[in-house]
Amino acid sequence: MPQVAIQAHALTRTYRRGSEDVRALLDVTITIPPAAFAIVLGPSGSGKSTLLNLIGGIDRPTSGHLTVDGLALHDLSERELDSYRREYVGFLFQFNNLLPNLSALENVALPLIAQGRSWAQARLQAGVQLADLGLGHRVGHRPAELSGGEQQRVALARAVVTRPALILADEPTGDLDLESAQVVLDLMSSLNRDLGATFVIATHNPRLESRATHVFELSNGRLAPPVPRP
Ligand SMILES: Nc1ncnc2c1ncn2[C@@H]1O[C@H](COP(=O)(O)OP(=O)(O)OP(=O)(O)O)[C@@H](O)[C@H]1O
Ligand SMILES: [Mg+2]
Repeated sequence: MPQVAIQAHALTRTYRRGSEDVRALLDVTITIPPAAFAIVLGPSGSGKSTLLNLIGGIDRPTSGHLTVDGLALHDLSERELDSYRREYVGFLFQFNNLLPNLSALENVALPLIAQGRSWAQARLQAGVQLADLGLGHRVGHRPAELSGGEQQRVALARAVVTRPALILADEPTGDLDLESAQVVLDLMSSLNRDLGATFVIATHNPRLESRATHVFELSNGRLAPPVPRP
């Protein structure tokens, strides 16, 4: 898997609401080295999701520069951004966004199909990925037939099955009980270690802080001074 570095320089995202500008992210300059396990902290509304959406190519900055693996995201066309998302990024959200009418296996196979793999190959690979995350006995279940923690592990399998260099997780444990959250965190840590994928995780969960290689704190869209790491 290629390893990616993320560089944001004076990154700003403002939203126009009526006659008013909402400054969701303001002048954020950060470097996240390859294979980092970076977390983004900050109160509700501080800009965490906005930052992740920009890094993931779901949204575009109003101004500033953002490069991932040397690709200048702020300069890419829509088509190039699409292919960036497909090839580089795995997303994990608080609410897992699994498709309700598909089995766990089919949900995990979808990103592989999007990359042009055959169904047979995608199903095979999805099955291996689910087994790796301890869900080999649940492949045929639909999301509603799984616990919240299991659903989030399926979503994690879907996020990593293409071996993306970058995994973006927005409050991935926000909807889980402590034990399930721990399982998902352990899995993310080991995927980071074993695959060398760069993780950027927006969270309120303080237990993630001890595992982080980098901690960024946002306040009103601005980056707080760096937290010294032991
Ligand atoms: N599409 C939008 N239009 C207008 N304002 C928006 C939009 N998206 C976000 N904002 C505003 O930008 C600010 C940052 O929002 P963001 O979702 O990044 O916060 P957050 O840190 O992820 O919060 P939470 O912890 O609640 O998820 C908020 O004030 C929000 O209201
Ligand atoms: Mg958010």
